[in-house]
Order: sequence, then structure tokens, then C-alpha cells
Amino acid sequence: MTVVHPTPIPVQPVRPRPEPPLAMLAELTHRCPLACPYCSNPLELTRREGELTTGQWAEVFRQAADLGVLQLHLSGGEPASRPDLVQIVAAAREAGLYTNLITSGIGLTGRRLDELDAAGLDHVQLSVQGVNAGIADHVGGYKGGFDRKMLVAAEIARIGFPLTINAVMHRHNLGDLAATIALAHQLGARRIEIACVQFQGWALKNRAALQPTREQVEEAKRTVAQARADYAGRLAIDFVPPDYFADFPKACMNGWGSTGLNIAPDGKVLPCHAAEIIPGLQFQNVVTTPLAEIWNGGPAFNAFRGTDWMPELCQACDRRDTDYGGCRCQAMAIAGDARATDPVCRRSPHRAALDALIAAETSVAPPPFEYRRMPR
Ligand code: SF4
Ligand code: FES
Repeated sequence: MTVVHPTPIPVQPVRPRPEPPLAMLAELTHRCPLACPYCSNPLELTRREGELTTGQWAEVFRQAADLGVLQLHLSGGEPASRPDLVQIVAAAREAGLYTNLITSGIGLTGRRLDELDAAGLDHVQLSVQGVNAGIADHVGGYKGGFDRKMLVAAEIARIGFPLTINAVMHRHNLGDLAATIALAHQLGARRIEIACVQFQGWALKNRAALQPTREQVEEAKRTVAQARADYAGRLAIDFVPPDYFADFPKACMNGWGSTGLNIAPDGKVLPCHAAEIIPGLQFQNVVTTPLAEIWNGGPAFNAFRGTDWMPELCQACDRRDTDYGGCRCQAMAIAGDARATDPVCRRSPHRAALDALIAAETSVAPPPFEYRRMPR
């Protein structure tokens, strides 16, 4: 990784009030029985003692609904590690939010799922780490996890929750892509999200271990095209290709501070899940500052809103309102400057360095995983 001193984040001018956010990701906890090396959580994980209480989350949900949020994604870590998950879902429902539970399934039982159903949970997104216990338990760093997940999936189907399977794909499981799609269909999912690993947080630390080869990426595109034809009308297939291999970056977060926000377990409000990688940003906490104030005028949210902050290359580009200059955290991770054009962009001066990085990481055997761990 290139490490240069980042350009300081300038204070942004007063700007018009932004549109309200549509979606909020609530990271209820960083605790998790799994230890996936592809996790996008930050390296410095929040301990249990630092987490918001049930009542504080309920207040956050009321403020979010007042602000205009419609969809709430309950995530972590593993949200089922919170003993008060049912009360948290009930509070979100009470606030009028659509609730999606993003879970590995570990920590859920048929009884707990029945309680979540009664509390008003709308949707479940179940992660799979592999198509059998051998690969899934290795990637998740949790023996017996795959078998427990299959039992939980059966309970989800019994209750009839709308189910999305979320599969993070990388060098170690892309060869099983067709089988992963078949597994999602077998489990009764309506949708599968095939997300090639995004290198943020622990995944960035494990980038050399997870980096797919160019051949794997090309094969994955063919597999997805074939599966979309084979499962048409039965299983919706979303595919997020690895953007390192693309010519132009993705419109990360649909543009910084435009449609979504994240709440960390301790109440810190983030423009995206990885934003803490960017030095110089000031993150406010919803315990001490109203959410609307943070969204509308918070310095971290205004740092990269709109197009004024962009480098000249993006300012003058015909795609600037399509990808918004790409991902700020990726620019930070690869170019060492959050204000740079996303190095994925073919027009970026950093693209050659990214190509060299991919070549270096995929020309040798992958190193062992560094599993995600809570602080001792
Ligand atoms: Fe996007 Fe900037 Fe590249 Fe244009 S120059 S495609 S706006 S990242
Ligand atoms: Fe932070 Fe893309 S992950 S802007």
C-alpha cells in the first residue's frame, strides 16, 4: 500500500440542507461468534461495555424515522449476539421502520426467530461463507457454524421470512459460485447478493489472502450470466463484481452523505462503514448530538458531499455525477489520500499502482488468514 500524508480535509462551506437519508445501517454490536477475514468492520472493534443500550437504540430509531429513514438494516458483528435483539426490533417497528436483519444465523433459534417475527421483523439476510462445512467453517473461523446455519435457514423458511442469501466471494470460494447460487435457491431465498469482497477493515488487512485472480473474476461473470438465465423468475441474483478489476469505480454509498448512514455500536455516526480509516474526519455521536443535526450539517457528512470537494480530474469528467469520484475509503487505502480520484478509475494516476498490486498479490500463493478478533 502506498502511504503518503493525506491532504487535510478542509472545512466545507455552508450548503443547502441535503435530502433525507433512505436507509440506515445500525451496527448493534461488534461481537460475533465468527471471525471472518473478509469482515468490513474496523480493526479497532468496540467492546460490549461501549455499546448503546436498548433504550438508546430505540431513541436512535425514532430520530431516524423523523429524519426520513425508511429502511433499517440491523447488522454487526452479529446482531443476534445482543440478548435484547427482539426488543430492538420491536422498537424499530414501533418507530415505523422497515427492518432487515443481517445475520450469520449463529445465535438464532426457532424460538428466537418466532419472537422476532412477533416483534415485526420484515426481512432476513443470511450470510453464507461456503457451500459445505469444510470451506464455510474455515472461512468463518468457527467449527460447526455451517451445520447450525443450515438449521437456522430451515427455521427461517418455516416462519416464511422473506430471505436474501448474502455470499461474500473471494479467492477461496469463487470456484463454488454456481453451487452457492444453487444453495441459496435450495434454502428458499428470493434473492442472492453475490458480493465480491470489498477491501475495507479486516478485509483490507487480509487483501493478499482474499484477492481473486483475473481468471476467477471473468469466470464469475460468465457463471452469473448463466445462472440469471437458469433461475429467471425463481431467484433474483445481484452481483457486485470486484471493483479493483473494473475500469471505473462504483458510486460508493450512492455518493457520500446522499442516501444512507451508519451507526457504529457506540453511537458514532458514520457516512459509510469504513469512514474511520480517513484521518481528519470528525465523527459525532448520536448520544450527544441529534441525528438530524449530524446528517444535515455534520463535518464528516459534509466533507465529501456533492462535487465541490472533487479533484480536477473528476470535476471535469463526464462520469462525475454517475460515480461521484468513487470510494473515498478506497482512495485513502490505496492512494493514501481520501480526496484523490478512486484509484480503480482508469483515468486515475494511481491506477498503474493498483494494477501492480493486483499482479503482485495474485502471482503467489495466498498467505494464511488473519482472523477478525475482538480486543483482549
Ligand atoms: Fe469517476 Fe473521477 Fe474517474 Fe471520472 S475521473 S470516472 S468522476 S472517478
Ligand atoms: Fe467509505 Fe466507500 S467505503 S466511501
